[in-house]
Amino acid sequence: MRALTWHGKHDVRMDTVPDPEIVNPRDAIVRVTSTAICGSDLHLYDHYIPTLKSGDILGHEFMGEVVAVGRRNRKLRIGQKVVVPFVIACGQCFFCRRQQFSACDNSNPAETAYMSELLYGYAMTGAFGYSHLTGGYAGGQAEYVRVPYADVGPIVVPPDVEDEKVLFLSDILPTGWMAAENCEIQPDDTVAVWGCGPVGLFAVASAFAQGAAQVIAIDHYPHRLDLAKQCGAQVINFDEVNVREALLEMTGGIGPDACIDAVGLESHGYSADNVLDKAKAALSLVTDRIHGLRQVILACRKGGRISMPGVYGGVADKFPIGALMEKGLSVKTGQTHVQRYSAKLLDMVLNDELDTTFLISHRLPLEEAPQGYRMFKEQQNEVTKVVLKPGATLQ
Ligand SMILES: NC(=O)c1ccc[n+]([C@@H]2O[C@H](COP(=O)([O-])OP(=O)(O)OC[C@H]3O[C@@H](n4cnc5c(N)ncnc54)[C@H](O)[C@@H]3O)[C@@H](O)[C@H]2O)c1
Ligand SMILES: [Zn+2]
Ligand SMILES: [Zn+2]
Repeated sequence: MRALTWHGKHDVRMDTVPDPEIVNPRDAIVRVTSTAICGSDLHLYDHYIPTLKSGDILGHEFMGEVVAVGRRNRKLRIGQKVVVPFVIACGQCFFCRRQQFSACDNSNPAETAYMSELLYGYAMTGAFGYSHLTGGYAGGQAEYVRVPYADVGPIVVPPDVEDEKVLFLSDILPTGWMAAENCEIQPDDTVAVWGCGPVGLFAVASAFAQGAAQVIAIDHYPHRLDLAKQCGAQVINFDEVNVREALLEMTGGIGPDACIDAVGLESHGYSADNVLDKAKAALSLVTDRIHGLRQVILACRKGGRISMPGVYGGVADKFPIGALMEKGLSVKTGQTHVQRYSAKLLDMVLNDELDTTFLISHRLPLEEAPQGYRMFKEQQNEVTKVVLKPGATLQ
């Protein structure tokens, strides 16, 4: 089959690779009909996440048709249309029973689990196409994927629903939703969202759906800020104004009640702290550039809540621990517990309570995936979300 494979920093290619097969009796094989490139894939493309190997198949946002089912999988049938959560969870362990699916203790095999144990103290859960830290599973930017624990994760969707309407149940929609939920939004709250990429945009929409009175979105790409405006947010362009001062002005001098960091470890901006982070990252003295997160912590009101869906991988410099403690902030973060939200969000999407397609800017044949990565990396203003279609003909 054809698949998008990683070969080094900024080097992804379409390769012909062996077809996946059922390995465990709860597996399924899915023929991919739509897949997308995520901001998290850029962290792999830019080689900020360790333990990638040349030839690894990327992609963790995908959906398609079930074409094979293991003999102990009683949930799926051949021919069903499914969206597959990026988190691979067993459904039975201590963590899965508590709905903490992205902490599943069974999906990262022993031969890879030790890597994240060394880095983080405990093993990370398995995920599709996201390095050997998360199990080294082949991803979904391919014609076919093996889905482990396929009697737990895959979301069966109606056969007649358009792919693009439900595709983002795989990751960015529940991620935006959980980001807002982690703000514990109260009526009258102002929520500020750093980053108007797909995750930030869905966080804006989710914050309104969860009752925020005011949402303020921050970025420096005019087109992405326009999309946030379309969702009802007020916007701040950080290239033009001082973010903290603007936020104070918009919140009566108090600061936002809750702040969402939907930026992650590759923060943009030419402030002194970010320039220093870049220099230190180049020398491997730090791994993560946390300029956006520093702003989040400083701008949040006293006693406020911070939600961090943005991905961080290692260690950072000048973390404002004093501000965090002295202001009494609380922080919630984590890879999304996708499976926890699947049924609720599918209902909302099918009932047209959430618009899931407004952020798609480009649709490309899977064969053009390397170009999709380049565009998503280099033209962030216009390229907000790229959907890839296996089997589509080249233009
Ligand atoms: N927790 C999870 O399970 C999960 C799931 C999906 C994605 N993510 C992470 O969420 C983050 C966002 O993902 P995305 O797909 O939206 O990525 P993206 O790269 O498309 O968007 C990031 C946005 O942040 C903006 N930005 C950069 N520096 C900023 C700053 N200092 N202030 C304000 N905005 C700034 C960029 O201009 C860009 O528009 C990434 O780190 C991604 O890895 C996490
Ligand atoms: Zn993703
Ligand atoms: Zn589990």
